[in-house]
Formats: sequence, C-alpha cells, structure tokens
Amino acid sequence: MAVREIAPDVYSVGVVDWDLRLFDALIGTPEGTSYNAFVVRGTEKTALIDTVDPKFEEDLLKNLMRLRMASLDYIVINHAEQDHSGTLPLLLEMFPAATVIADEKCRDLIEHLLQVPPERIQTVKDGDTLDLGGKTLEFIVSPWVHWPETMLTFEKEDGILFSCDLFGSHLATSELFVKDFTTVFHAAKRYYAEIMMPFRASVKAAMQKVAARDVVVIAPSHGPLYRDPSLILDAYEDWTSDAVKNLVLVPYVSMHGSTAKMVSFFTDALIERGVEVRPYDLTRADPGEVAMTAVDAATIVFAAPTVLFGPHPAAVYAAYLLGALKPKTKFVSVIGSFGWGGRTVQYLTDTLAPLKAEMIGPVYVRGYPTPEDLSALADLADTIVKKHEGIVTEP
Ligand code: FEO
Repeated sequence: MAVREIAPDVYSVGVVDWDLRLFDALIGTPEGTSYNAFVVRGTEKTALIDTVDPKFEEDLLKNLMRLRMASLDYIVINHAEQDHSGTLPLLLEMFPAATVIADEKCRDLIEHLLQVPPERIQTVKDGDTLDLGGKTLEFIVSPWVHWPETMLTFEKEDGILFSCDLFGSHLATSELFVKDFTTVFHAAKRYYAEIMMPFRASVKAAMQKVAARDVVVIAPSHGPLYRDPSLILDAYEDWTSDAVKNLVLVPYVSMHGSTAKMVSFFTDALIERGVEVRPYDLTRADPGEVAMTAVDAATIVFAAPTVLFGPHPAAVYAAYLLGALKPKTKFVSVIGSFGWGGRTVQYLTDTLAPLKAEMIGPVYVRGYPTPEDLSALADLADTIVKKHEGIVTEP
C-alpha cells in the first residue's frame, strides 16, 4: 500500500489486508481490514506510530524506505496486540537507535509478548508529551479500549488523534479517508460490537478525554481515517449510551422444528405488537451480525432445544459470546422445547448473567408447542411490550 500524506510531514505507512476473513481466530472480517501505521516527522526527530501485523513487515519496511528514512528515533506503541506491535522486533533490529515509547502496562506486555529488551523502552504517563521539533505528541493513557494497556497519541499541531483500535473498522479499502460514512457505518458498528462493546465504560472515559482536545482528524489503526471526527464520535455516543431500541434479538437453533415453530410464532407476535425483531438461525448466522443487533436490542430471547441434558451447543456458544460482549440489553428470556428434561433454561440464564439484565419468561415446553404453549409466547410478547414502554427509542 502506498505512502500517503495526512498533513505536512505526517504520513500513512500502513497496509491493507484485503483477504483476511478471520481475526484473532475468532472474529469474522468479511470486508478484510487494514493495519494503519503513521510517521510523524519533526524538525529534530522522527516517530513511527504503531507498526503492522508481522505478516506485512516487508510492506511496512518498503514504505519507510519510500520516505527515505535513514533513521528512526521513536516507535510509539499504543497497543501491545500483535497486529500493531508485531513488527517491533524487526524494526528494532533495523533501527538500532530507535527508542520504544509505551505506557507502563504496555511495556510489561511487549517485554513478554515480543521479548523487547527493557533498555529499548521509554515509558510514558498520561499527559506526557514528546517534542519532535514542531510536532508534539501527547500520550493519552486510555486503558481497556481493547486491552488494559491501550493508549492514544495526539499530535497537537495538526490535531491528529492516533486512536489505535478505538474508532476502528475492519474494512479493507483503498480510500485513506472516509468519503461516505454510510459505506463505513456497518463495518464500524460491527467492529464496535465485537471489539469495544465489552469495554463500554472505558470507551466512554476515553471519549471524554478525546472531547477535551481539539481533534481535527481521527486516525485509527484499522479502516479509514476521519476528517470529520463527529461522524464516528456521534455513532459511538449512541452505541455507548444507555439507550436501547424497541428491538428484540432472537438467536435460535432448532433440531426437529418445535423450537423453530415457537420462534416463528413469537416473531410474528412481536411484529403484530409493533416491536422490531431479528431472529438469527445459529446454524448459519454470522456471529458478528448477531453482536451488531445486540448493540441496540432492548431484549434478547434465546431459543434453543435441549440436547441430552442441556442447551444445543450452538446456543451455548452464542450465549457465551453475548455474555462476554456485554451488550446494554435490559431484558433476557429463554424459549424452546425439550424431550425429557434438562437444565437448558438455567444454563443459558447463568451464561447470560454478565449482562445484568432482568430475566422474563421463560417459555420452555415439552415437545411440539401446543396452543397453550403458543398462548404463553403471546403473553411473553405482551410482557416485552410493557417492559419496553418508556425505556426504548424507536429503531
Ligand atoms: Fe487491532 Fe486489539 O488490536
């Protein structure tokens, strides 16, 4: 990927990973991603902000050569995860005079993850600055905007915020800057759901620090950059708020049609009552799409049959994932069908406990649902309508 200028003597030197389809062996990336890195040249010193995934280390080196960089004084590591720090060992070999800038927790991590020699690291605290000569870097320690060590770097003269994972999107594009946010919104929201949502409180705290600066450009380490920071800041304001929408997420799995019948009836019941609903068949659903719906949903209703003595494993996986992602959902329920007993409702309820949502229902029935069972589902839909009253915004 070409070197591109963001501002005078500030360059994008990262790479686009067009074909990545699974990140961290965990997160689907249907639109690829990028690993953004930046060079800031002062009159006295030059700094590289973040590196790239090590599988692209040659591309990063080529970009540095294109800038005719004979020396590199500092390598700022905002985040120790290897997609941003993994090329550090090679860079330290190539640039023996370079000093790594990291906060204290990041220092600890890169010493262990990458075996960076401690004498090569200079630690910084929140608010510390580094004068490169006409370019001043301010370090904003913002823990848990993915990992415990995360930091943002603000280049003061041009107002560029190098936010690393925060405000990123897994989106491979040749556009350096967002041109049309509607084309980026989906990837940015998916990224928020999968990466940032578990840390909603920390993201809010980081956003307060961002708001206190005169930010002109937001330059995350994944996806395109923002010349209009309000686009992504407004979206984050909504996603991180406590507001939920009049929306029910229904992750479901069915083996012989009983649970599917219940989902079909329940979905119609919600629609008839004016509640938006999004069912996902977990045997086919993209977990990222499920997570995105969870960003806004006031209620999650799991629908799963009992297999042997507990929930279908597809439901276990989805419930575990949602429990870990901690959406702001206010109500949860479980519906489904069993043959001879088991712990499905208790298991799924326990797994969703991290949401701290109110449990309503459940409607868990034996075999194919009877008219009485369907009536209980209609009652559950009525309960959801009442619970949503006064607390939801329209989707
Ligand atoms: Fe893009 Fe948490 O690394």
